[in-house]
Amino acid sequence: MTLSDSFGRQIDYLRLSLTDRCDFRCVYCMAEDMEFLPRAQVLSLEECETLVETFVQLGIKKVRLTGGEPLIRNGVVDLVRRLKQIPGLEELLLTTNGSRLEELAPALKTAGLDRINVSLDTLDADRFKALSRTGKLEKVLAGLQAAKAAGFKRIKLNSVILKNRNADELENLVEFALQERFDISFIEAMPLGHIDDHQRSEEFISSADIQDVLQKRWQLKDSNYSTGGPSRYWQINDSQIGFISPHSDNFCASCNRIRVTAEGRLLLCLGNEHSLDLKAIMRRYPGETERLKNSIIDAMGNKPERHHFDINETQIVRFMNTTGG
Ligand code: 5AD
Ligand code: SF4
Repeated sequence: MTLSDSFGRQIDYLRLSLTDRCDFRCVYCMAEDMEFLPRAQVLSLEECETLVETFVQLGIKKVRLTGGEPLIRNGVVDLVRRLKQIPGLEELLLTTNGSRLEELAPALKTAGLDRINVSLDTLDADRFKALSRTGKLEKVLAGLQAAKAAGFKRIKLNSVILKNRNADELENLVEFALQERFDISFIEAMPLGHIDDHQRSEEFISSADIQDVLQKRWQLKDSNYSTGGPSRYWQINDSQIGFISPHSDNFCASCNRIRVTAEGRLLLCLGNEHSLDLKAIMRRYPGETERLKNSIIDAMGNKPERHHFDINETQIVRFMNTTGG
């Protein structure tokens, strides 16, 4: 069984948000003052498991747990252990801000988690505080070391670069990645949700600009490395340097992804509002797996061909933490 959409794309990658909450308030992601979902509206861990089982039966091979911050969800390690037992699931991944990784990395490894991505936008402690509003750089760095010590391989850093905030750290970030043998991806900021910190257009810097800076210092080799996500990779030494370019390099033609929000809404595209309320179906018809499957299969027909982001306006009112990072 494979899921495919009306443009012939095969969908085998699910990103599942475990919570819309986060212990950080990154300026490009959230407003300072955010309202989060009431608990009853968030999928239970059992519902998360049912959904993943169902999606895997439909042909999903790779699942990434996201948030908000997935590691602040109680029971996350146990969920990882259970999901890893689902036959047919080839890769279970997690994207985290790293704040709780120091405590959780060994247990996550034992539970069978395959790989992790850690967000890291700056290596300067004061800037880290300013960008994340509530985060501590030192915790994240300790988390990264703990993940390495726990045996995670191909740890990837995700950096969102803002022109006037951290663009001068591009080389430092790459140096850090090379030294630690991490991969790193640079993500163009997307207009998801109304933020109050800055005009997104004033802070925008494209992947091409980032590549120009890095190319002055390193020989970037085209790499055919792929993890089945939207990153295009270049290689320096042993590290893969990725660029996620939702604006400058539309990657929709090869999109193999769908998302489920913490509320249990199936999103067919990061940049479009279409969604299907899977939680409502599961709660209304408990145990009716065939009904759930058919609804998912039907929904694939609504997957849009592509997103159209415009950095000058917020077209998508949903924030990244609601969307599932
Ligand atoms: N645009 C681009 N990336 C974002 N992230 C959060 N909000 C945005 C946005 N508006 C990033 C986080 C994290 C990843 C999951 O998504 O920094 O690295
Ligand atoms: Fe939290 Fe990630 Fe959003 Fe920062 S970018 S506020 S760490 S969800």
